[in-house]
Formats: sequence, C-alpha cells, structure tokens
Amino acid sequence: MKGIILAGGSGTRLSPSTDSMNKHLLAVYDKPMIYYPLSVLMLGGIEDIMIITTEEDKSRFEELLGDGSSLGISIAYEEQVEPNGIAEALIIAEDFIGKDDVTLILGDNIFYGQGFTDLFRQAIKNHEYATVFGYRVKDPERFGVVEFDNQQKVISIEEKPDSPKSDFAVTGLYIYDHQAVNMAKTLNFSGRGELEITDINKKYLEQDQLKVQLLGRGFAWIDAGTHDALFEASEFVKNIQDRQGFKLACLEEIAYYLGHISRDELYKRGQSMHKNDYGQYMMEIANRKHTNQYWDTLDHHPALGLVQNE
Ligand code: G1P
Repeated sequence: MKGIILAGGSGTRLSPSTDSMNKHLLAVYDKPMIYYPLSVLMLGGIEDIMIITTEEDKSRFEELLGDGSSLGISIAYEEQVEPNGIAEALIIAEDFIGKDDVTLILGDNIFYGQGFTDLFRQAIKNHEYATVFGYRVKDPERFGVVEFDNQQKVISIEEKPDSPKSDFAVTGLYIYDHQAVNMAKTLNFSGRGELEITDINKKYLEQDQLKVQLLGRGFAWIDAGTHDALFEASEFVKNIQDRQGFKLACLEEIAYYLGHISRDELYKRGQSMHKNDYGQYMMEIANRKHTNQYWDTLDHHPALGLVQNE
C-alpha cells in the first residue's frame, strides 16, 4: 500500500495567511497541519509516502520532513504545477503507485477518534477496489455527498450538490486499487476547473466497486481549509491535548510506538526542542514507564505492537 498526501492548491480560502505560505504548513495549534494526515498514514502502517505540493513549496516540505528516515518511513516529493484538482494527484503519482493499492489523503484533513487506527487498518486489510469514509455533517453541500441504502450500499455520490441527498460527506481519505490512475486519466475538468475525486468515486460506483465506511458520532473529522475551520481545529486539538496529556499527531511518538525509532532517538529529538511543549512531550513519553494499564489507555496501541527498540 502506497500513501499520498495532497498538499498543493492555492489556498485562496485562507488568504492572506496563505499568500506567502502553503496552507498545509500553517500551524494547527502546536504543529504544522500536514502532521495530522501524515500521522493517519503512519498509524495505518503505510511507510511509502509521496507528498504532492506546489513547485515553490516543495523545498519547504523537504526541509520539514526530509526523506522520512528520521520517522522510519520513506517520503518522496512531487509537484502539482497548477491546482488542477485532487484526482490529478493520482496521475502525478502514477510511477510511484505502479501496480500497488494507494491511500490518498488531503493535507488539510484531520481525523480523530477512539478506535480510528483499528478501523483504518481493517479498511486497508479488507480493501478490494475503492473505499471512502462517510461522516455526517451539518453542511453537506460543502463536500462530496454520498447516499446509500439500508445495507450501506452506495446509491449515488455527488460533488457539492445544491440539494444534498444525504447528510453524509465524503471525507478526504480514499483507498483505491491500481485502476484509479487510469480512471483519473480519462476525467474531464469540472465546472470549477478541477479533476474531481468525486468523479473517480463515481466510476468505481458505476462498476459496483465503491465501498463506504462510516465514521460514527464518536469521531472528529475536520477539514481545516477555512479561517473558522482552522481556528476550530486548533481549539479542538488544544482541548483534547490539555485534557488528556496525550498529543494528537506527534509523529515522533507514533514512530516510537511503531518501533521505527528508539527511546533514545525520541528523547534526543525532544531535547532538540526542549524549550517548547512539543519537545518536552517527546522527552516525557521517552521517560514514561510503560505498564499494561498505561497501554490500555492508548487507543492505537494494540494495533501497533509493543515498542521494539527499547
Ligand atoms: C474536496 C472534495 C470533496 C470532499 C472534501 C473533503 O473538496 O472535492 O469531495 O468532500 O475535499 O475535505 P474541496 O476541498 O476541494 O472543496
């Protein structure tokens, strides 16, 4: 399974904050936005990842995340020259995907909830053709909208419909088989001048190959692409972190639990930013005594296995 994060776009909805800065590098509370989708791919066990961004911003992402080796993963970078839509990512990543399956996640999407890692890992394991994730929202007209019958079989899928047929938005997390690349190549530009990911999903639906996995009311899904949503996302992250003392999307912590980096490496990384809370957190995690009781409190731990590189 390959992973792609799409972090391109012109970010006009967040202007002027994005006039000289890629949206996905803006902070969502205490870390760059892209950490959140990257954490999702890592928690799903995906280790071969491509970040697609704009020509100007590529070097900034490289500076932030390098080749991924410090997190025990591999990160490659590609450019999306024009904001031609989400589905174009599949064409850009054609060679990278090869004959593999691929999980595509949007760089401004934040997922959080008890059991999410297990759910996502199961979805990857049971995946056949195309799997998308549905989430109930108050404003479905802002999103791709999926309609399904009582058996959770998809009936229709529409991009930003004026009269949504359901309250279920399609989130920015998509699992596809290799057909997706060729499908993307046959798409026409939509009214808003983009190659729409919804049109890929429609093609799978026509072939009776589209599965929708619902994320229930215990999950949080935030598309942080507007001023309000970005602010709310930061507040949400701060609230959960302050309450529980666990950080969301601390990539180094995840790498440690996955056994990619050692306790020592985690501690040293923390030390390098010891003046702030993010660095202190890493040092604290590295110093914690791991009892069974402690592990039980971690939603994702059973899926990850015990820390190997003590
Ligand atoms: C895009 C997709 C839409 C999806 C949304 C999720 O919308 O086109 O189907 O529901 O991402 O974040 P956009 O961000 O391009 O408006």
